[in-house]
Amino acid sequence: NDLKRDSRGALIVLEGLDRCGKTSQCARLLSTLEGLGYSVESWRFPDRTTGVGRMISSYLSNQSQLDDHAIHLLFSANRWEKRSLMEAKLMSGTTLIVDRYSYSGVAFSSAKGLDFQWCKAPEVGLLAPDLVVYLDISPEKAAERGGYGGERYEQLEFQKKVAESYKKLIDTSWKTVDATLPIEDIEKHLKEITLECIVECQKGKSLSQLWP
Ligand code: TMP
Repeated sequence: NDLKRDSRGALIVLEGLDRCGKTSQCARLLSTLEGLGYSVESWRFPDRTTGVGRMISSYLSNQSQLDDHAIHLLFSANRWEKRSLMEAKLMSGTTLIVDRYSYSGVAFSSAKGLDFQWCKAPEVGLLAPDLVVYLDISPEKAAERGGYGGERYEQLEFQKKVAESYKKLIDTSWKTVDATLPIEDIEKHLKEITLECIVECQKGKSLSQLWP
């Protein structure tokens, strides 16, 4: 219908600790929305396919060392290099399901001890999500799931600090979903809140910028 064709897509972000289940939920949500006939893409940050992304990937797999501030700015640059494409996709009506965004940037870097406001600064002017979903799991439960891939941040003690940082970021506009529920329940809940958000955007909700 006309509404679907002429209106913009929604920017939907999933956040959470490592092993919270974000990545599989993003995939499920993508196929659900595709099945309903929406134009939708699944994105993730870091986007390891770009030059900056390859530097980040090498850092995460401990193949290179970087100053904490420098890697923070690379994560941010990795979002900036995708900003214009992101805006173009949204304005052309495509909904984006994004696995991690600026909130991961702030939560992980500030967990290392970097100043919270300093961490937020390079994100100013990036597109603000229409919906942020926090997949909530305790660091202990996440660690029990095993399969920490051995990347730099995948350690219980550090994830505890990240969880504390996320708590400072969560505001009333976020939707928190219990990540320990059965996968199908999480999926159903995500579908509901996502569709609500897509409808709001179709009705003309304007795109805004960080930090609102
Ligand atoms: P991934 O496992 O979702 O690919 O993310 C890789 C790691 O990078 C994960 O531990 C979270 C971390 N991260 C940051 O530290 N800053 C960021 O801006 C992003 C997007 C991720």
